[in-house]
Amino acid sequence: MSIASVLKKGFKGNYPIQQIWNSKLNNVGVIQGGEAVRDCIREVPIHARGHYILNDRLMDYPIDSDVLIFDTPASLEPMGVLALAASTHVLSPIKPEIKDAQGLFGFVRWYETTIEELRLSPVPSILGFVPMRVDYQDSGIHRDVLGIDKKGNVRKDIDQTETLPGLLESLNIRCFPFVKESKNYLRACAEGLPLPLYRSGLPSSDDFSAIANAVLEQQ
Ligand SMILES: Nc1ncnc2c1ncn2[C@@H]1O[C@H](COP(=O)(O)OP(=O)(O)OP(=O)(O)O)[C@@H](O)[C@H]1O
Ligand SMILES: [Mg+2]
Repeated sequence: MSIASVLKKGFKGNYPIQQIWNSKLNNVGVIQGGEAVRDCIREVPIHARGHYILNDRLMDYPIDSDVLIFDTPASLEPMGVLALAASTHVLSPIKPEIKDAQGLFGFVRWYETTIEELRLSPVPSILGFVPMRVDYQDSGIHRDVLGIDKKGNVRKDIDQTETLPGLLESLNIRCFPFVKESKNYLRACAEGLPLPLYRSGLPSSDDFSAIANAVLEQQ
């Protein structure tokens, strides 16, 4: 069972939520995406409420949870539009590569056009961007895009307005602390666990604290 069953006609509120990380936590559940979503995407244009289906489902059948996260692969349109129409906030990872940094403006254009076209009210706000898989020791591109030195510190000797964090600031969008490239993510991923549950006390365990705090502040 996946999110496809939620979007299909005749849904009556039985969300296929699976509890995960049961041995460590009892309050995290997921609804799977995956292949089945491709089929129901075709139904979106013929559905009278098209892009609002997910929002409608959550209005009709609220999920009793403090935070709902819609994880949308960028390539699976129009799932991003469905998710935006059901969201209060948007958080985007971004790779510190030239092409991805330039793509930032494309994302902002997509976001503004979509909220206007769908007449979303209240408008979902951009919580921020988070640079991912940053390797400041070995990648000069990562250092240039982020305006940092080989120790990961912000460079004071360059014009920061041209860097990714500088561009985000000029757009009034928050740039969260970057997440470093670390083999521990791959190891935790292989175990099917988030990093702090895979092993506590690792330096990367705090990578997402600023985001978690920003989410908590919205409650
Ligand atoms: N900071 C990191 N350091 C090392 N590996 C990472 C890091 N972040 C993610 N990865 C690894 O990269 C792979 C892809 O990560 P993830 O699934 O988060 O990417 P994605 O962009 O959401 O992919 P998809 O488009 O499939 O949804 C995973 O194996 C993950 O463990
Ligand atoms: Mg993903």
